[in-house]
Amino acid sequence: MMKSMPNTAGTSQQTTYAYRIEGGYPVVGEITCLGAKNFATKAMVAALLGETPTILTNVPPIGDVQITAEMLMGIGARVEQLDETTLLIDPTTVNASTVPLAQSGSNRAPILLLGALLHRFERVSVPVVGGCQIGARKVDFHLDAIQRFGGVVQETPEGYTAQRVQPLRGTHIHLPYPSVGATETCLFLSVLAEGRTLISNAAIEPEIFELITMLRSMGAIIFTSPGRDIRVEGVKRLTGTRMTVLGDRIEAASWASLACASDGDVTVHGIRPDSLGNFLSYYQQVGGGFEFVDANSIRFFRRRKLSPAIIETDVYPGFSTDWQQPFAVLLTQADGISIIHETVYEKRFGYLKALNRLGARTQLTTHCLGSVPCRYRDMNYEHSAIIIGPTPFTAVDEEIVIPDLRAGLAYVIAAAIARGTSVITGIHFLERGYGNIVPRLAAMNLKIERIPYPTPAVAEV
Ligand code: EPU
Repeated sequence: MMKSMPNTAGTSQQTTYAYRIEGGYPVVGEITCLGAKNFATKAMVAALLGETPTILTNVPPIGDVQITAEMLMGIGARVEQLDETTLLIDPTTVNASTVPLAQSGSNRAPILLLGALLHRFERVSVPVVGGCQIGARKVDFHLDAIQRFGGVVQETPEGYTAQRVQPLRGTHIHLPYPSVGATETCLFLSVLAEGRTLISNAAIEPEIFELITMLRSMGAIIFTSPGRDIRVEGVKRLTGTRMTVLGDRIEAASWASLACASDGDVTVHGIRPDSLGNFLSYYQQVGGGFEFVDANSIRFFRRRKLSPAIIETDVYPGFSTDWQQPFAVLLTQADGISIIHETVYEKRFGYLKALNRLGARTQLTTHCLGSVPCRYRDMNYEHSAIIIGPTPFTAVDEEIVIPDLRAGLAYVIAAAIARGTSVITGIHFLERGYGNIVPRLAAMNLKIERIPYPTPAVAEV
């Protein structure tokens, strides 16, 4: 059995906790990025494709890993925690093709398991997917891909079922949008399918390249290209491997935003600078400074008075949608009008309401305030934000309720720069993706405590 992980709220609602943060001081010190959430859970699914056990190191102690481990154990896989950040996943004991409904709506992993398990079983059932409520987050590309490989899929009220009568066969998939998850599904389907697969318009996020590296180390034959084409030559079997989860680039951007917004000075360890891509350029443009300390450490600080920016989120190598919320807090402290055009998700600005309560001046519009081709043009989604700064933040008496994971970290940064004491509830959202938050931030002089909180959190959307 897997040992339970420290400081994750998981899915339990028995005890409610909140963060109490006394803000208004620069955040100064050192922090080590944990392994990337958005690779760790995919690596856990990939491990099921091997015929021997896989060992994953630098696995973050977060709720999402715990949830995924429970799904794997639910189908019979042996998942053993060798130490705080090392997992052994033994796929040889997998004996069930139905992922238990207990994990229904918890995260995105079920839809990845649907494709991955279809090599091993002729019929697979998984519960509905969950994850943050930041848009419709459909899974149609995944289901279409499974059908193109020869599977037949069915949607049920409980989830999805996929069936096949013969081994899956390689095919050409053109993704309508470079979806990260759908690219992963295509990789899982293709590596063990008969013959060749071409995935075009694939996602090329660093976590995708990391997954390709892991699959190659298991024996997969995958060719990438300078563009968005990935060619896979199916093989008959894969073996287990040993893989280190790369540092979380979303965490790193969050700590960089915290350092600059609070006028502090934070050295972030455990991050490959190249994985931050254009973030570093936007950071410099608004007045943030950084210097490389060593190959995996970057020091972040404020170089000058902050200036506003125009940001459009996009697929890699664009500005990641997951950097948007911490960066928005930074922009509230810039002198002038900033604009954020969110083109990946249609509903990712719910958190601005609470920032306004702390003093921010922001406004949403359904118009596309930018030039990146956007699927939400001429629709009624408030997916562009105008931020007028600088506005000092002051803590408010009422609690701030976290609506989703990345918004949660934005609120922590907001509370860190707000004068006075803020109480943030709904922290289970945040702890699904950020591990050991309190000790790591307290070590940087942030006055933060995790306290039992009497009322169950209700998300503000
Ligand atoms: N989409 C579809 N149909 C599909 C799949 C995606 O319409 O079948 C749309 C989505 O609705 C969305 C867009 O395509 O508008 C992008 O979705 P994508 O599939 O790329 O996202 P994902 O795989 O579900 C991962 C991360 C997200 C991150 C996105 C984009 C994980 C577990 N989640 O989600 O991370 O925002 O890629 O980079 O890897 C987070 O960490 O807070 C988070 C939301």
